[in-house]
Amino acid sequence: MIRSLYGKLAFALFGLLALTGGLFMTIALWTTQRYLQEVNQKLHIDVADHLVKEVILIEDGEVNRPGLDHIFHMMMVINPGIEIYLLDPRGRILAFSAPPGRVKAEMVSLKPIHRFLSDRPPRLPLTGDDPRFPGQTRAFSAARIGGKDELQGYMYVVLGGERYSSVVQLLAGSHILRLGATALAAGLVLAAVVGLIAFALLTRRLRRLRAAMDAYENSGFLAPVDLTEFSKGHHGDELDDLGARFDRLARAMTQQLERAKSADVLRRQLVANVSHDLRTPLASLTAYLETLLLKDTVLPAEDRRRYVEVAYRHSQALEVLVAKLFELAKLEAKETKPSPDPFSFGELVQDIVQKFELLARERNVRLKTEIPRDLPFVYADLRLIERVLDNLLDNALRHTADGEVRLSLRGVPGGVQLEVADTGVGIPPEDLPFIFDRFYKAKGPGSDPTRGSGLGLAIAQRIATLHGSRIDVASRVGMGTRFRFCLGPPPVAPASTAASMHVA
Ligand SMILES: Nc1ncnc2c1ncn2[C@@H]1O[C@H](COP(=O)(O)OP(=O)(O)OP(=O)(O)O)[C@@H](O)[C@H]1O
Ligand SMILES: [Mg+2]
Repeated sequence: MIRSLYGKLAFALFGLLALTGGLFMTIALWTTQRYLQEVNQKLHIDVADHLVKEVILIEDGEVNRPGLDHIFHMMMVINPGIEIYLLDPRGRILAFSAPPGRVKAEMVSLKPIHRFLSDRPPRLPLTGDDPRFPGQTRAFSAARIGGKDELQGYMYVVLGGERYSSVVQLLAGSHILRLGATALAAGLVLAAVVGLIAFALLTRRLRRLRAAMDAYENSGFLAPVDLTEFSKGHHGDELDDLGARFDRLARAMTQQLERAKSADVLRRQLVANVSHDLRTPLASLTAYLETLLLKDTVLPAEDRRRYVEVAYRHSQALEVLVAKLFELAKLEAKETKPSPDPFSFGELVQDIVQKFELLARERNVRLKTEIPRDLPFVYADLRLIERVLDNLLDNALRHTADGEVRLSLRGVPGGVQLEVADTGVGIPPEDLPFIFDRFYKAKGPGSDPTRGSGLGLAIAQRIATLHGSRIDVASRVGMGTRFRFCLGPPPVAPASTAASMHVA
């Protein structure tokens, strides 16, 4: 069984060429024979007629034997291949020129003779019975004997010429035909060679494609496949198309696999972080409650109260952490769908600032706002944006002491931009690219790794993304940090707010 496409194509080509050659030779044999008969018959079409006119062959129903012998002799001299037969009106052979014993048949079918005589000119070649070889037919010439009213018989002349029963015989008999057959065979061989080379060239790219697929599979579907020759589409055929599709498929698959791998790494990290962040407050909580249980009777009331307070703080921290984790999980799973409304960004900023005034005072931080007049409404989910502002402001205040935190709004082409800038400790450049990652806490001076969960900015950035925005950060250690993001206007812009410039 042939397995390769090249082998199958070559097999099909040989089959096709053999079929073509065989068919051609059969047609050539048939047409050559018919043509020879036609030429022969055309040349001798009037022979019988001339002979009848030469001698009176039947007189008063009797065969004129001497006259007949004269004709036989004459024809033998001119063309020994010709056989002459004298037939009665029903086709029975009365006399013949062949040596005695050579003629096997007694009768000759009159049908072709009638056609020969009635069709003028007859459609050649027209063949009739050969009395020497019953069952075989040959080209002939025929003529009526007798006047118009009384038919006395027929002169039937079987014309000579070779009969070929096979191609080999035919070729053996003719130099020209041999030459033609040789040329045909050479042509077929040439066609086969050209065909094989063409198939080899055509299937070469297919083999390359297969090799690339093999290499890709062996690499565990991770190594990039080099299929640029196909994707450039120089040939513009199905193979280029197939190669380009495979290229796209392989790239997409590799990407998916890499994504799955990194998702797996992230998942492990997440589980490790979550369990660490949950375990620490949980362990403290358990320890305090345990001490309370064991020393309930011996502990002074003051200490008992302190223990309960610490345990309560830890349980609150736990609650906050679990709530944040849940919030982030919902955002990452795209379960949180923002329900946007038009609102005044300025008013929201004022509200948030009020909420943080106490904390600012504790930290000895001046909390300032810059809200220009005539700012347009923004279109966003108020509750979610409040979460972002909460976290940005909380971060700013927690990392600033005896300084200033400024919240400013500004109209920009894409809507309204908020900036939260502080004069705090700043974020080291090596930490800056990661602060939006979940659980990431900067390690620079002034940072307290025991405080915060490292989830606030991750949540805030995802909320911004949900609104088609992005939080940008710029920071200098010891100088301060500023975060910025922008909110778009409502689809149909309503009247703008008239908030006065406010400096608190
Ligand atoms: N304004 C800021 N100044 C200096 N460092 C900051 C500031 N904002 C964020 N950071 C750094 O980025 C880290 C990540 O902030 P993020 O808000 O995500 O977490 P967190 O504040 O530590 O915890 P959470 O917000 O979940 O309570 C912080 O731990 C802090 O080191
Ligand atoms: Mg935070």
